[in-house]
Amino acid sequence: MIVGANRRPATSQPGSRHADAPPSAAGLLRSAAGRELLDRLAGQDVGPDRVLAVSRSLRADYPPELVAAALTQQALRFAARAKFSRADQMLFTRSGLEQASSELTAGHAAARFAGASVIADLCCGIGGNLAALAGARTVPDPIIGADPADAAATRNAAARNAAGPADLTRRVVAVDTDPTALEFARHNASVCAPGSEAGFVRADVRELPLAGFDAVFIDPARRDGQRRLPPGQYQPPLDWCLRLAGIIPLAAIKAAPGLDRARVPAGWETEFVAVGRELKEALLWSPAMASAARRATVLPAGDTLASSGITGPGAPVPPVRLAPPGAYLLDPSPAVTRAGLVGDLALMLDAWQIDPMIAFLSSGEPVRTPFARTMAVLESAPWHEKRFGRRLRELGIGAADIRRRGLAGDVQQIHRRLDLRGDHSATIVITRVDNRPWGLICTPLSEPSKPSEPSKPPEPPEPSD
Ligand SMILES: C[S@@+](CC[C@H](N)C(=O)[O-])C[C@H]1O[C@@H](n2cnc3c(N)ncnc32)[C@H](O)[C@@H]1O
Repeated sequence: MIVGANRRPATSQPGSRHADAPPSAAGLLRSAAGRELLDRLAGQDVGPDRVLAVSRSLRADYPPELVAAALTQQALRFAARAKFSRADQMLFTRSGLEQASSELTAGHAAARFAGASVIADLCCGIGGNLAALAGARTVPDPIIGADPADAAATRNAAARNAAGPADLTRRVVAVDTDPTALEFARHNASVCAPGSEAGFVRADVRELPLAGFDAVFIDPARRDGQRRLPPGQYQPPLDWCLRLAGIIPLAAIKAAPGLDRARVPAGWETEFVAVGRELKEALLWSPAMASAARRATVLPAGDTLASSGITGPGAPVPPVRLAPPGAYLLDPSPAVTRAGLVGDLALMLDAWQIDPMIAFLSSGEPVRTPFARTMAVLESAPWHEKRFGRRLRELGIGAADIRRRGLAGDVQQIHRRLDLRGDHSATIVITRVDNRPWGLICTPLSEPSKPSEPSKPPEPPEPSD
């Protein structure tokens, strides 16, 4: 069932054939009164401190169920500002917002679809990826994937492009089982990609005929409430998603950043994407779209580090030097670590590893790279808690971010026992060097006087099937 761009997917909306059923929150919000109320709330803080007072005053003018839906929507829009520049005009469900790709990560993924004309966005949710896929236009000289097997698709797209500018428009068909998400995706596409051509289908993607698409993007559901699902229980399961490439060669899958790389078949590219220091997602690119076996990308700049070779593990990387820490310590981006590219990074930077099992690198030079955080080493010695406590007090270090890697121990308790005093701040690294417990006192390279940003614990590996 394809629902055209100018028609709404079937939901219970006022005036529709479901009019005798209670209107859904989506229907309420898209009614004239709903739009008026959302405009009135635009930019307002409806956080816990204010919500009761705002609700009371609005109930004088609007029905209570509309006020409740609009206040929830306004709170979601506020939270969504972290992901979308046009959040204040978009519509969200709570789970749809939690699962949505941000404008930044969606834009990065969509850029690799340049040249595709008819794209299926499967499991579109509230349309985070859809907005980016629909917003991008095909280019006059399409390069679809690296595989010469795509020559036919490329020729077809080229022929369409040769027909004139009108044919440069891309069409994206968004599919989801959730009618509210689909309704909101349609609205969000009109806000974020105005004038784009998008169609909407309410269907189980596993029952959808996929003939006629140039390319497919799928973002399966990976949570059941707060429970993270293993790849075999993604909705639809990862193996089903991987088989899409057998039908549409240009295929990409968004997966959890904790994905075990062994789940990805040979010939596919696994790209780990971080925004700043935060690992966000894994993107799996089908063989026709792959340009490396493994890749680490750091947004917003889009710096990218790839393994050599498209299939298999890539060309063997010469062994990385092993030596005790020098003047600088490098903490690789989690995207680099997850992609298994720490050795490649060491070679690129002429750095060395301080232990074969630990992902810290060291360098004699103050290297600046998007792929690692570089810290100047003030102290480096076998870890002895009391001695380090004394040294930290001598250095006047009263605030410390402790990073422990490769050793057990409760960071908060260590922090308390170190009994820090002073006006300065530092990063304390507790790790292993040549399999011995080792400590380092470091300061960030760029902002020596500021405490380093507390590191968010990386997401643990996905549960296994
Ligand atoms: C991770 S979310 C997609 C987020 C979306 N890419 C975005 O950026 O907003 C997954 C979506 O898959 C949908 N879904 C799960 N199983 C499905 C199926 N078999 N067919 C269609 N949609 C499905 C869910 O309703 C949910 O909206």
